Amino acid sequence: MPRARNADNAPVTARILSAGDPAAVAQAARAIRSGEPVAFPTETVYGLGANALDPIAVARVFEAKGRPRFDPLIVHLGATPEMTRYAHPEDLADPRVRRLASRFWPGPLTLVLRKLPVIPEIATAGLDTVGLRVPDHPVALRLIAQAGVPIAAPSANRFGSLSPTRAEHVRRQLGDRVALILDGGPSRIGVESTVLLLARRRAVLLRPGGLPAEAIEAEIGPLEPAGADDASNDPAQSPGMSLAHYAPTVPLEIAPAGSAVTIAPGERVGLLAASATGRRQAEELAKVGGRRPAEARGSAFAAVEIPAPDGDLLRLAAGLFEALHRLEGAGLDRIVAQPVPESGIGRAIMDRLRRAARGSVESNIQKKR
Ligand code: TXA
Ligand code: MG
Repeated sequence: MPRARNADNAPVTARILSAGDPAAVAQAARAIRSGEPVAFPTETVYGLGANALDPIAVARVFEAKGRPRFDPLIVHLGATPEMTRYAHPEDLADPRVRRLASRFWPGPLTLVLRKLPVIPEIATAGLDTVGLRVPDHPVALRLIAQAGVPIAAPSANRFGSLSPTRAEHVRRQLGDRVALILDGGPSRIGVESTVLLLARRRAVLLRPGGLPAEAIEAEIGPLEPAGADDASNDPAQSPGMSLAHYAPTVPLEIAPAGSAVTIAPGERVGLLAASATGRRQAEELAKVGGRRPAEARGSAFAAVEIPAPDGDLLRLAAGLFEALHRLEGAGLDRIVAQPVPESGIGRAIMDRLRRAARGSVESNIQKKR
């Protein structure tokens, strides 16, 4: 039988092992201890993990992803008390740190605090801070416990590609670059963690994510407003955020609510609908070849994804990347995504869609160069 090959025609050598098998987790833990990266499930997205205390192991993660060295990794801990080993006592003395950790860990929240020297520079891209989180996933926690070290892990995708929410997504992107993928089923939350800077008595939202900012503010009061000195625009504070993280291979645009999508004859347009109602509206308004095919049978779109027919934003977040993975594979000319309200997890959804839209514009400009 010919060997499976990935998009670059490289042989896929990764083994997907069920995380339900204790021997598989034990094997992954041994790999981590011996400096080899392993892909594993978390509640947000799959991670590509390595021993955070071993600079060479961490370098292998950057290598496998093709990730620029100035983009820091998140260090995953097995339990909250471990943060005293890695974060600066002055930052830990900020009562908001304890409060958020005890309220939201394990969970989709990354706290950025000044680091202790035991965390190697490569893991934090030379910053004096480190992003810490305790993931809310039994497999991730078992893996960290058995490895006996904190695990530095970015999302397990190639740099600039879609985040993975299934083992199969990881295999397609990194199948020739990682030996072992632990399969824990689909990720429950589906968007990455919320990243919050809490170093030096500040409180700045660096990346909207799985934990809504409103939930954080309910615990510790208002976060610093995004503005001129918005840390998320400051490469020195959050390097990864200034990049268009996800550049789809198919152009993506966000359709203004209630607008008509215009489709050229023969053009294959995919729809990412915000709800079943949203889909119906889009079908009613779509203009194909300058006309409205009001009575036309079937869909104006070549592919339609409706992760949350009822419009529930948690469900939409959980199915977002999955839907985009499928649309990317559907041979489309472009993808049109419907916007959602920017509250709760809706903020993370819109953040990812905007990055995708910007990423597709930038990659097209590059192609034309
Ligand atoms: O949910 C998640 O956060 C997933 C899972 C695997 O835990 N991980 C993830 O990692 O999304 P990654 O590498 O794709 O995104 C990490 C981002 C960086 O790009 C950066 O924006 C921010 O977190 N970050 C990490 N450490 C930081 C630091 N010391 N200072 C500022 N931002 C940091
Ligand atoms: Mg990522």
